[in-house]
Amino acid sequence: MHKLLVIACCFATFNTALAADPITSRQEVFKQYKKTVGAMGKMVKGDTAFDQAEFAKLAAHMDELAQQPWQYFTPGSDKGKTDAKPEIWSKPAEFKAAADKHKAEVAKMKAVAAQASGLNDVKAQFGAMQQTCKACHDQFRAD
Ligand code: HEC
Repeated sequence: MHKLLVIACCFATFNTALAADPITSRQEVFKQYKKTVGAMGKMVKGDTAFDQAEFAKLAAHMDELAQQPWQYFTPGSDKGKTDAKPEIWSKPAEFKAAADKHKAEVAKMKAVAAQASGLNDVKAQFGAMQQTCKACHDQFRAD
């Protein structure tokens, strides 16, 4: 019985490793982005009540997510079911600059959210953070 469990466990790990190609991996992170930023956006727009603790938690989660997608833009992963533009690989310095600017604004969002005493304190930085999504998509994502 024990032996069987060990085998089942390793097989599952092996399967996960196979499934995790770079394109799917980065798209999965961006799906989490959408969920997280979407929940924050609802509070900013007033669709849901502003809850500072919850907003700060979402912003902290966003900061963790913002470290992740870039490692998956590996050489060769420009081909396949992807909206990534070839410029990511032909202009790597510009792509890195867009990602770094984004990470900086997300980090600032986390700090601002942690200190906020109301919705008005987070609005401007939320806009600045979102602007970095758009800037990169305009240049590096096909729509
Ligand atoms: C530095 C560049 C960059 C930044 C910054 C960026 N993205 Fe993206 N995003 C991309 C690229 C490139 C793709 C296409 C990935 C692919 O299809 O391989 C993408 C794809 C997506 C997708 C589609 C994922 C899917 O289901 O295929 C969503 C949603 C998304 N981004 C949301 C966001 C949000 C929200 C932000 C800001 C909080 C953001 N992105 C910031 C480059 C960026």
